[in-house]
Amino acid sequence: MKIENSVVLVTGANRGIGRTFVEELLKRGAAKIYVAARDTAAVADLLKSGDRRLVPLPLDVTDPYQVAAAATVATDVTLLINNAGFAAFDGAISAPTMDDARTEMEVNYFGPLALTRTFAPILAKTGGGIINMLSMLSLISLPMAGTYAASKAAGLSLNRSIRAELGAQGTQVIGVLAVQTDTAMGAKLPEPRLSPVEVVTDTLDALEAGTNDEVVAGGQSRGIYQAFTADPQKIQAMMLTRLPKRA
Ligand SMILES: NC(=O)c1ccc[n+]([C@@H]2O[C@H](COP(=O)([O-])OP(=O)(O)OC[C@H]3O[C@@H](n4cnc5c(N)ncnc54)[C@H](OP(=O)(O)O)[C@@H]3O)[C@@H](O)[C@H]2O)c1
Repeated sequence: MKIENSVVLVTGANRGIGRTFVEELLKRGAAKIYVAARDTAAVADLLKSGDRRLVPLPLDVTDPYQVAAAATVATDVTLLINNAGFAAFDGAISAPTMDDARTEMEVNYFGPLALTRTFAPILAKTGGGIINMLSMLSLISLPMAGTYAASKAAGLSLNRSIRAELGAQGTQVIGVLAVQTDTAMGAKLPEPRLSPVEVVTDTLDALEAGTNDEVVAGGQSRGIYQAFTADPQKIQAMMLTRLPKRA
């Protein structure tokens, strides 16, 4: 699909990769962008530009009422970007409780599932697509982010099933595989890191080229992906040495 004249909803649009999506979508001629955030005060500086294409939308992706309400407002969406994410960066065993593991599943798995189910009928009418921000950790387990990686693996599996189910209505579904990126989340991961611009540019280029598959975004991601596909056991074994600090 093309970005020009599209109507986009970006979750977690207030910072990090989500904000970069908004900036790049504006440059590519999106007609309207619902900048969804838990706290819309956090997008106030974006709105200060006076660009009338930006529409703030309160949206906690784990809140079923807010998800339903979003679909009553954003009835013209042609591209849904499930970007919001949470990572505790803790071990599956060493984490003091299972609370963060549950939050990761709520934000990274159930949130995108709820939004996709809610917006699928809108996308059936308007055409277009869905971008799900996954992670290279959707493919490779990392003990220092054990439960986050598991939530992103669930997200990848879901992404593939959704693509198959929505194929009949012509919805393009992209899942983004990226390594550590220079945001608040990525700051907890080792350097070097991708720039959010590189991740977003590669993703939107793939969308506009008609890709209906996973996209490996960023040069560093492609290097890791090639090494992983050449010898999955070797790369997985290397990652399994990265234990949580508390372990
Ligand atoms: N950075 C990386 O290294 C990296 C690599 C690969 C993939 N990813 C994925 O890319 C996406 C964006 O990550 P990022 O690096 O930009 O992270 P980030 O800087 O930590 O930003 C996370 C965003 O998600 C929002 N969010 C968290 N919980 C939410 C909820 N319940 N409802 C709505 N919004 C919520 C945050 O809003 P608040 O400001 O309200 O907290 C924030 O806008 C995530 O899905 C992440 O898993 C990141």
